[in-house]
Amino acid sequence: MISANSAATLGGVRAVALAEKFGTPLLVIDTDAVDAAVAQFETLAERYGLEVAYAGKAFLNVAFAKRLANTRLSLDVCSLGELVTAERAGIPAPRIVFHGCGKTGEELSAVVDGRAARIVVDNREELERLAARANPAKPVSIILRINPGIEAHTHAYVRTGGEESKFGFPLGEVEAAVVFSLAQAGLVLNGIHAHIGSNIFEAAPYEAAAVVALGIYARALELGAPLASLICGGGFGVDPYPGGERVALDELIAGLVRTVAHEALRLEIPAPKIGIEPGRALIAGAGTSLYRVVSVKRQGARRFAIVDGGLADNPRPALYGSYHHPVATGRDFAAAMVETTVCGRSCENDELMVAPLPEDLRAGDLLGVRTTGAYTFSMASNYNRFAKPAVVFAGGGLAALAVRRQTVDDVLASDV
Ligand code: LLP
Repeated sequence: MISANSAATLGGVRAVALAEKFGTPLLVIDTDAVDAAVAQFETLAERYGLEVAYAGKAFLNVAFAKRLANTRLSLDVCSLGELVTAERAGIPAPRIVFHGCGKTGEELSAVVDGRAARIVVDNREELERLAARANPAKPVSIILRINPGIEAHTHAYVRTGGEESKFGFPLGEVEAAVVFSLAQAGLVLNGIHAHIGSNIFEAAPYEAAAVVALGIYARALELGAPLASLICGGGFGVDPYPGGERVALDELIAGLVRTVAHEALRLEIPAPKIGIEPGRALIAGAGTSLYRVVSVKRQGARRFAIVDGGLADNPRPALYGSYHHPVATGRDFAAAMVETTVCGRSCENDELMVAPLPEDLRAGDLLGVRTTGAYTFSMASNYNRFAKPAVVFAGGGLAALAVRRQTVDDVLASDV
């Protein structure tokens, strides 16, 4: 974890050296932290017979997918771009699950062609479009995503359960979808899926959603579906404040497994194999964004520090009001701290965070912004025609480029 002195390291490599060698802004992924998170999920998978699929939307590129290929995790993809990334990294189709709502014809065909082990179907039209393409000689394994009507306490933009959300089949439509699926020679209904949202810290909404989903699962079994899996989604929270941590995963999963087992007993059905889809919990804490301070100035009562990145490489503060903790690093600083508004260099008020930073912070200093592994690189844009930052993997004292920094030519590459 990054600290405020000249010797600060990430993955055992000095932050100053990383910034000097690879430039800034830079996303550094501590691969030791990734390995520890993967190991925790592998242990949970083994202990509870879970299926764990990493949600690629949180952070994905070929180098990272290659690391995943060497684990026991599967991968959720939700676009052709994510699928091809996985393929290029050598993740075999049996470990790929196709997700997303609003899949294109090309994406549905990719699944029919066997490029993913199964597909999570979001709605009736998608189910019909998939059925129309499916090949009875090579049936597609499908999972129906339901909207369990459970709202978790999270930002409205990342809440995906509840009646105000677009995702999944409304409960009233699931039975018809099951019946329809069973009538399709090209489809095999293997599971029920419910994901309630992202960055959730309580176990209760997971358990409540699992109970609803299991009721549907039992009904689908009764209708003759060859079900085996109950996918309970991802969304396991990560607290970005200093001292904050990932949600207590062991406890949460143990509770979920217990609830599902009890409910299966009550419904007199075989307990399903439980699946989870963590994104953030696996990668957020491993990431630190390194920025160079471009200027420090006062406006009225506020002190501003402007850095050489911002909204384009981390839209989360602007979109969700998310916090990422900044640490001045790379040299020894004065002990006195001043509340500072850190802004990016976009042509708008792109506040990244308000936090205490050393009073002698000045242009040229390095800022390490923590917990930026998830949904920053994957949501980065070329706003203002800024080039996207490089990504570096640092672990065991060694650093290697994972994604090279874009050039201005890259930014212009698709202009006709
Ligand atoms: N499964 C499904 C069906 C999902 O939609 C998602 C995330 C996940 C799993 C993984 O959720 P995670 O474990 O990463 O929380 N851009 C937002 C988060 C959007 C999450 C979208 N779906 C953010 O930056 O907070």
